[in-house]
Amino acid sequence: MTGTVILIGPMGSGKSTIGRLLAARLRIPYVDSDQLIVTQTGVDIPTIFEIEGEAGFREREAKVIADLAGHNQDMVLATGGGAILDAHNRAHLRQMGQVIYLDVSIEEQLKRVRHDRNRPLLQTTDLESRLRSLAQQRSSLYQQTAHWRVSGDGLRSDQVLRRILRYL
Ligand code: S3P
Repeated sequence: MTGTVILIGPMGSGKSTIGRLLAARLRIPYVDSDQLIVTQTGVDIPTIFEIEGEAGFREREAKVIADLAGHNQDMVLATGGGAILDAHNRAHLRQMGQVIYLDVSIEEQLKRVRHDRNRPLLQTTDLESRLRSLAQQRSSLYQQTAHWRVSGDGLRSDQVLRRILRYL
């Protein structure tokens, strides 16, 4: 029994891609906290940021994570990159199962998130500085929340998956 596995890490680290593969491999449901918010509200993430601001989005995110922490069904949970900003979220995630920090370099993130219109925090002309400042604010929170850190740089999804499976 592996139990629940939670993926945390910055935008473009591959949480959704790896999460789906991992869930299929472990034969447990895949859950994406952003996707749950979109399903519940019926609108996309940029629209939530537009209407309710980042604060409104964070409230919704915290509620979804608290609800999931109250279930005791095994799952692979992919979180949004900012989920670890909130101390309650961090505690809930660690209490749910094994938390894996998917770490990638800024260079790799840049390749993956360029021209992405679905991420409100990245709608800027200087994407690289934005990613660097987010990393500066968040890297230590990812570290302190995770049980394991897995670097995805230069690796294919199946290779990242294999690295994660070594810890489970
Ligand atoms: C965010 C990351 C996004 C999404 C929202 C905010 C963040 O999720 O939750 O746009 O603060 O890093 P992904 O990490 O899946 O892109």
